[in-house]
Amino acid sequence: EKGGWDSFMDKEIHEDPAAVQRTLLGRFDDSGAIELDEVRIDEHDFKAIDKIIVVACGTASYAGQVAKYAIEHWVRIPVEIELAHEFRYRDPILNARTLVVAISQSGETMDTLMALRHAREQGSKVLAICNTQGATIPRESDAVLYTHAGPEVAVASTKAFVAQITAAYLLGLYLAQVKGTMFRDEIRQQVDSLKDMPRKIQWVLDTQTAAVEQAAERMANAQSFLFLGRHVGYPVALEGALKLKEIAYTFTEGFAAGELKHGPIALVDAGEPVVFIVPPERGRSVLHTKVISGIEEVKARGATIIAVAEEGDKDVQRYADVVFWRPACPTLMSPLVDVVPLQLFAMNMAKIKGYDVDKPRNLAKSVTVE
Ligand code: M6R
Repeated sequence: EKGGWDSFMDKEIHEDPAAVQRTLLGRFDDSGAIELDEVRIDEHDFKAIDKIIVVACGTASYAGQVAKYAIEHWVRIPVEIELAHEFRYRDPILNARTLVVAISQSGETMDTLMALRHAREQGSKVLAICNTQGATIPRESDAVLYTHAGPEVAVASTKAFVAQITAAYLLGLYLAQVKGTMFRDEIRQQVDSLKDMPRKIQWVLDTQTAAVEQAAERMANAQSFLFLGRHVGYPVALEGALKLKEIAYTFTEGFAAGELKHGPIALVDAGEPVVFIVPPERGRSVLHTKVISGIEEVKARGATIIAVAEEGDKDVQRYADVVFWRPACPTLMSPLVDVVPLQLFAMNMAKIKGYDVDKPRNLAKSVTVE
């Protein structure tokens, strides 16, 4: 079943490109317009949506956090991310114009299920982004957008994450189309960028694996790691930190890079490994400059810098001890590639330490209790 790989996690990381590709398949009509078959909320109701609340847990919530940047930019409506287990206990403001998006790989996470039931009771429509056909969450939702990542066996979620981002981006572009917040050409451009991503992810798998393995060998004894990113790199940092703590049992924290000077920099000591997700240099170059200055600050305190950055980034070359390169891509698309070396890194760290990467201690694949 592992198809020649020595763990399901290894196999599933290598299915990241296919997961994105399959999630995009069959979602466009002949003219290239986005067509979401399984979404049975009528266009009129979609047009009226003025707010999105994503409810999810763990990795699925980070996929939602990535999508917030894209959807707010494309559709110009607020997108809130709420951990599903916090949601119904705070009396959230819901009405028929709020679309609640429940993201879940398994479709059986009890916290997420309870959140969506609460949302429907309050009169909101719920759309599920789910990887498991016929699971409870899609069955109880008004609409479902399946991720077609294929069954995910390893407890640590990998290919489902990139598929969830892809599906949420499709939803965003569909909403932009229905609400007319983007020109057709602009939508097509984003779709083309999305369609390019499987090839770019494959490039990372083909060319960066050796560097990741070497880095894991070098860092195997580190006691803790910090993960930092800005903009879409922030949820990627959170996801990288979660992967490493889940399967390598290493203490990690993910932060927004801008928070460094508001506290976390106190943790940085000589030799502390700090992982930076560095945004592309072009386009949002302000972001790039700010992340680089964060790198300089921790470097000055003797930290070991691991960077995920765009090929040829000279600033990164100057400061980083280890670099995992990404091929050039638009900022909003970068999480789809940037998470890949972090998945591989966590897996390699766990393997070096002799842990079962598919079945980490204390964790279950789907959490069916609240
Ligand atoms: O099946 P779900 O997507 O609803 O699961 C949500 C989380 O439990 C899940 O993502 C968890 O954080 C994973 N172990 C992450 O690798």
